[in-house]
Amino acid sequence: MITAITHERKQQIYNAQYSHKSNLRRELKNKTAKVGVIGLGYVGLPTACHYAAEGYKVTGFDVSESKVESLNSGINYINDVDNDELSELIYQKQFTATMDMKQVGEMDVLLICVPTPVNNLKEPDISYVKDVGKAVAEHVKEGTMVILESTTYPGTTEEYICTPLTDRGYVIGDNLFVAYSPERIDPGNKKFNLSNTPKVVGGITENCTELACMFIGKNAHRVKGIRVAELSKIFENTFRWINMALVNELTVLCKELEIDIWDTINAASSKPYGFMKFTPGIGVGGHCIPVDPYYLLYKAKEHGHRTKMIELAGDINDGMVHYSYNRILELLAAKDKLMKHSHVVVLGASYKSDIGDLRESPVVRLLERLQNKVQKLTVIEPYAKEIRINDQIQPVAKYDAAILQRADIVVIGTPHNCFDWKSVHDNASLIFDSKNVMEENGLLSDKVAKL
Ligand SMILES: NC(=O)c1ccc[n+]([C@@H]2O[C@H](COP(=O)([O-])OP(=O)(O)OC[C@H]3O[C@@H](n4cnc5c(N)ncnc54)[C@H](O)[C@@H]3O)[C@@H](O)[C@H]2O)c1
Repeated sequence: MITAITHERKQQIYNAQYSHKSNLRRELKNKTAKVGVIGLGYVGLPTACHYAAEGYKVTGFDVSESKVESLNSGINYINDVDNDELSELIYQKQFTATMDMKQVGEMDVLLICVPTPVNNLKEPDISYVKDVGKAVAEHVKEGTMVILESTTYPGTTEEYICTPLTDRGYVIGDNLFVAYSPERIDPGNKKFNLSNTPKVVGGITENCTELACMFIGKNAHRVKGIRVAELSKIFENTFRWINMALVNELTVLCKELEIDIWDTINAASSKPYGFMKFTPGIGVGGHCIPVDPYYLLYKAKEHGHRTKMIELAGDINDGMVHYSYNRILELLAAKDKLMKHSHVVVLGASYKSDIGDLRESPVVRLLERLQNKVQKLTVIEPYAKEIRINDQIQPVAKYDAAILQRADIVVIGTPHNCFDWKSVHDNASLIFDSKNVMEENGLLSDKVAKL
């Protein structure tokens, strides 16, 4: 009797699994699956547009009323998204945005792209993933596939996405599918985008992995387990974090040794194998590289392990703001000028060239150090309307040669391609070039000081 029930139950599970899996397979094949993207920021919005352009009906979910309203009016707020394409997708009703999480229950595929920042103590703030995990479990329907895309430490998908689902009785891999697939969007990158960048995919079960790979398509890079997928993303960014620290450390040493770091980097880069070029700067910024290693550090600590290279790289990278501040002080002093009597102009403040994202930007941290120490501080940032320095919102200035002429020192923070370097060179009396753009543009002279 017991054997008969077990067999019957096994058959039921098999049938349910088979029907849910085959339904989703069919919907993915025909592109009739309804896709929901939760979190419509730098990652979520381009992702939503990508799948909508592929032919899926996409619903974007966000807690920000202004973002949802803006999108439904066809107004874009992310540089990497094409304005015309977005308004066309909205007009054709291929993509709509909502704050109503109940609509999660209508989706066949859910992609979670919410923030994973760190707090002031550099500890992971996993609250966004946690909240979304709960909301998804509350509203999702049977047969849906949930893919977490936010960058995070290994174990997050099981803890914050699967647990609320299994608590509600779902059987992952049978009547609901869960996978992790980290996003590799590189804002401002004109060569690599969602269509031509491989995407790591790991599911909770074989069924989950298979369906997630099918959805992601030709770019899917299948891995054996969900934790491998989670760790691979942090490994990629930690690799950059540590190499940036190495080149930053060498920069400070080169200054002492009176060796040109940029020539040194170019010399090493002439090796066609086994070397990868990283360049120094005022620090390391953005929502990913200076954040993600701390997710790994946190996980390691939980297991009583120290990730010493991450900690050391953090000290070196964070120290570059202090080093840059001192260089400005020295350069002004060499002209018999005191910081407190100087007008400092900073060109570019976002965390990388040609975008307006100011999050975690080391240039902003330098501005915070300079703010109350100088007579006047002017920030020229063509990609932002305003900037928050020491919790005060300030306007940014437009590029104007007259501003540079009045400056005691011009600091090249973030070298946007729209800057006219000849004009910068000709109008400034002293330049602190953190990115070596002057030399690269054939404009090296006595008034240019390198990092
Ligand atoms: N920005 C990048 O270049 C990049 C690249 C690769 C991976 N990532 C990772 O992708 C994730 C998202 O990053 P981002 O840069 O797009 O962040 P973002 O801050 O630009 O966007 C996140 C969006 O999620 C929304 N949100 C927050 N809580 C929500 C909730 N409960 N429900 C619905 N929406 C909610 C926010 O309002 C915001 O619009 C992070 O884990 C990040 O590390 C970012």
